[in-house]
Amino acid sequence: MHPAVRIVEVGPRDGLQNIKGAIPTSVKLELIRRLKQTGLRTVELTSVVSPRAVPQLADCRDLLRDPSAKTLLQDSQSRHPVLVPNLKGLEIAIQHNVREIAVFISATEGFSKANINCTVAQGIERATQVIIAATNAGLAVRGYVSCIFADPYDGPTPLPAVLRCVTALLSAGCYEVSLGDTLGVGSPANVRELFQYLANNGIPAGKLAGHFHDTYGQAVANVWEAFNCGIQVFDSSVAGLGGCPFAPGARGNVASEDLVYMFQNAGIETGVDLVKLVETGAWISSQLSRTNSSRAGTALATR
Ligand code: HMG
Ligand code: MG
Repeated sequence: MHPAVRIVEVGPRDGLQNIKGAIPTSVKLELIRRLKQTGLRTVELTSVVSPRAVPQLADCRDLLRDPSAKTLLQDSQSRHPVLVPNLKGLEIAIQHNVREIAVFISATEGFSKANINCTVAQGIERATQVIIAATNAGLAVRGYVSCIFADPYDGPTPLPAVLRCVTALLSAGCYEVSLGDTLGVGSPANVRELFQYLANNGIPAGKLAGHFHDTYGQAVANVWEAFNCGIQVFDSSVAGLGGCPFAPGARGNVASEDLVYMFQNAGIETGVDLVKLVETGAWISSQLSRTNSSRAGTALATR
């Protein structure tokens, strides 16, 4: 059966990028291997960003060069995006036969400056150049807009600021734009307001995805609300890992296990084997010596 919901697993990238201790590349590759075995068709592999900005993913070249990653990158049935901030990142991605990249901008000035060292307008311009160059080179491009509800430095985000970024990324050639509640502060009322606003301004739900961090424990509810607004693609991270070094205090992504559990119980197909996903969440939590942040994952693992 064709999944009704597509899950974009961001654990190997968003999930690991903010962890301070060194994680061996072999553990990252094993995480990716286990995630793929659950049936996940889209797994974001890593990012090619300044190693000073995100030291944890400075091994991106080694990871992409590994034979197992090379095999994944050749698989035309799956998507394996790699996050890139600029043309330099795109060039490195292309050298490693990456077929899909993800570009990222912020709807707000404070986070844009902290995360990618430029204004929103410059971020849009830079992302547009990357999208055009990537598309010309035959790559697919996914877009992210961060701080859809609030910015850690500027406060609440005006709706038109999000629309401006979404419109720019789609016009430049992104096949889909993922809306990031980077701080994890939004709740279902905010989700409905934003998705309705975007729909009223001509953005089709089929071009959007939800990317909810879980700081206030609202992420699962936000996914459900977005689903009921017509969104069918959701980013999540196994064991609820995740966070951005430039969004202080923000918690991890919504846990993949919690999403699969919720959709499965509603009879909505995700194409993911929950038992294998729970095992993977327990495995990576023990590898990283961290408490598993997935509620469903913890409950099912100890049953
Ligand atoms: P900058 O300092 O303005 O740029 O940083 P620069 O061009 O002057 O480069 C600085 C150094 O980085 C140079 O090295 C470059 O060579 C190197 P140096 O000469 O000093 O040794 N560099 C690179 N190295 C590898 N790959 C590259 C690359 N580009 C430059 N692609 C820049 C600007 C954008 C590069 C930097 O700010 C950066 O890398 N930022 C990325 C930050 C990041 O990865 N944040 C986390 C991901 S976003 C996120 O988590 C949100 C999301 O999940 C959605 C949500 O939750 O909202 C997606
Ligand atoms: Mg994120």
